Amino acid sequence: MARIIAVINQKGGVGKTTAVYNIGAAAAELGYKTLLVDLDPQAALTASVGLHPSRLHKSIYHLLLAKELDPQQTLIKDIRPNLDIIPANPELVQSDIEIAQQIGREYLLQEALYPLKPDYDLILIDNGPSLGVLTINALTAADGVIIPLICEYLALRGMGMLIDMMRRVREHTNPDLKILGVLITMYDPKSIHSREVYQEAKNIFGSYVFEPPIPKSSRFAEAAAAQRPIIEYDPTHPAADIYRSVAQRIIQFSNPQATLPSPTVPSHSQEEVLSTPST
Ligand SMILES: Nc1ncnc2c1ncn2[C@@H]1O[C@H](COP(=O)(O)OP(=O)(O)OP(=O)(O)O)[C@@H](O)[C@H]1O
Ligand SMILES: [Mg+2]
Repeated sequence: MARIIAVINQKGGVGKTTAVYNIGAAAAELGYKTLLVDLDPQAALTASVGLHPSRLHKSIYHLLLAKELDPQQTLIKDIRPNLDIIPANPELVQSDIEIAQQIGREYLLQEALYPLKPDYDLILIDNGPSLGVLTINALTAADGVIIPLICEYLALRGMGMLIDMMRRVREHTNPDLKILGVLITMYDPKSIHSREVYQEAKNIFGSYVFEPPIPKSSRFAEAAAAQRPIIEYDPTHPAADIYRSVAQRIIQFSNPQATLPSPTVPSHSQEEVLSTPST
């Protein structure tokens, strides 16, 4: 039975889509049946895997709003071995108002994914840079959250808002929501500023910070141009190994019986969730 993990940060360009694609590809490479869900109206994940969002007739939009739709019809299977995707298409842009009019609007994604959970070990949801109704759906459907945090000035601003939203979701729609970790992205060890942001994140979020951070590298742009995850485009790149270790950590969370080693990623008590101080 799949665990559902949402990758969320309302700040744009912090590495959410890159994380979903690479963690998903790493989990699939490890043999875990993995489903990617593109919940971003920009459909960047859909495009990243080599699909053309505007040519898709069935997408997450239809799964959320057409109750009678068989979820199987929205799946694009085997984009890699063990890796499927529910894509986004441009219709998702207009979904906010339509979703807002639905009864039980926060639960649409949870209900839509429910029949698919037995078929997967892991379901990863990519989110757009907003804290709107789609993101609330992701937080309501999710067992756990990963927050990518870019190593840049002002990156920590807005984290309080995100944590507050998770608290509210926990109070209202998903009491079991957990924070799995903060994933530092685009880390440049040669930059004093980058090191300061990383240190500040560790001061605030403690053991919730996945270590080591994802380094900044031009290989990401090359991999994106090739429509491949970095773990496949440059399998021996240090970032590829870090995404693999994050995938292992998530699988351990997904299945406490799994004994995959995770030497570089700290584990922390799952009961500590959301005790993270806001900024
Ligand atoms: N570690 C990295 N080093 C350098 N570039 C990176 C790294 N990770 C991601 N990128 C690049 O940064 C850009 C933004 O990444 P990505 O699209 O994953 O962010 P996002 O948070 O999903 O953005 P959005 O909020 O718009 O959805 C992309 O061009 C991606 O290739
Ligand atoms: Mg994105």
